[in-house]
Amino acid sequence: MIDATTFRDVMSQWPSGVTVVTTLGADGSRHGMTASSFSSVSLDPPLVSICLTKTLYTHRLIRDSGVFGISVLAKDQAEVGRRFAGMEKDVASRFSGESWTTGETGVALLDSALGWFDCRLLHEYPGGDHTIFVGEVVAGRAARRSAPLLFHSRGWGQFADVLPDVATLSDGGVVGALVDAGRSEEVVEVTAGVAAAGSRVRIADLSRVRSAEEARGLVGSWAPLDAASVLVSDRRQADLALALGVGTVELVVDPGRRDQVDAALVAVDGIAARTAVHLISAFGVERLDVVLEAVQRLARAGVAEIVLPDTAGSATPLRVRALLQEAVAIARPVPLRVGLHDRDRLGLVKAIIALKSGVRHFDTTLAGLDGSVATEDLIRLLEEVDVDTPVDPGLLIELARGVRRPERDGHSTTLTTLAKNGAALIDAGGPETVGAAG
Ligand SMILES: Cc1cc2nc3c(=O)[nH]c(=O)nc-3n(C[C@H](O)[C@H](O)[C@H](O)COP(=O)(O)O)c2cc1C
Repeated sequence: MIDATTFRDVMSQWPSGVTVVTTLGADGSRHGMTASSFSSVSLDPPLVSICLTKTLYTHRLIRDSGVFGISVLAKDQAEVGRRFAGMEKDVASRFSGESWTTGETGVALLDSALGWFDCRLLHEYPGGDHTIFVGEVVAGRAARRSAPLLFHSRGWGQFADVLPDVATLSDGGVVGALVDAGRSEEVVEVTAGVAAAGSRVRIADLSRVRSAEEARGLVGSWAPLDAASVLVSDRRQADLALALGVGTVELVVDPGRRDQVDAALVAVDGIAARTAVHLISAFGVERLDVVLEAVQRLARAGVAEIVLPDTAGSATPLRVRALLQEAVAIARPVPLRVGLHDRDRLGLVKAIIALKSGVRHFDTTLAGLDGSVATEDLIRLLEEVDVDTPVDPGLLIELARGVRRPERDGHSTTLTTLAKNGAALIDAGGPETVGAAG
């Protein structure tokens, strides 16, 4: 027979998720423990199983009460896992410090878990020194979309993020930067080159345009328009641009302003599949919740993409990670596009973190002219880490060399400038917005 140590050693190589199993005492008090033996048993009827050591207090309570709850822990909840496994000293109550919902059966279910099941005990089977409890699921909730907590080799962990096979680039800044620098005469040639290299390029800002003639004047001579995007601030401008054949219209929304998100949802109705919506200052301090809510609402509306620009260069690598890990999952299947500022030369660090957080689409600027991550820098990084980009890298690098000036402008991105004076923000009827509502 196998010895206990070898048995444990082999089992420790089996990775699992981690749950907190909760149940009730005879007096209605709650009790819970960490368990990784959770398994799905049947879909119809919905059944799950857990396998508990016979001598445990929780084991006795489940048998007596006939109910149990399963809360699936997220990657940031190792401390909860430790506490419910009795590994934390001096814990008055395993439940304190967390928010709990009471299920139909009366058990406590962890609000911040990835999801939970509320179960009634249906069967129990002997399993050596354990008992296999099978529960019928009476209620469940997928509460959060994030990465799970894992347990492997007696340690807590999480999924190592894999890099994608392919990432796409679009240039949202070169035109604004050239115009701001008084180099408008270079715009047509540069943008045509960027498009020819296979990258989408924002060719104009239509956020002040009021007539079809004006719109035509700004984008008319440019081809191929389907590879281009334009900035708009209302539906009328979006319709004008799309009628001219522009591939994508870009709206800019402050996610902190619910009225602007509402206005964007109205504006994209019927044209969502050709609309990219920017959420300005997405990486700002204390913005996580409003940004995630806006991402969720826009994703439900089926917009072509949601763009998270590091408008003011305020993103730190950790904030990029915190937002993107959640936002990518919430937006799915709508792709997220991320525009990163190169402040303190941290742009590529943040780009790697974005890639590892599941981002596949980037807004960059040729030669980093507006302070964003330079297109050619990101291309080199992607080459180094074996991520394909459907662009002609040689052509973009050559174009970048052509537009680069000796001094690198570390200041505003076009969006920053626009956001500062409110010009391009979607018209939500507020006093500081411009343009007629479409
Ligand atoms: C990651 C992890 C997974 C665990 N999974 C189980 C399990 O599936 N079944 C079990 O009986 N104990 C499991 N344990 C051990 C219990 O959590 C631990 O014995 C707990 O203190 C029992 O609580 P109780 O004595 O209050 O009932 C696990 C511990 C850890 C750290």
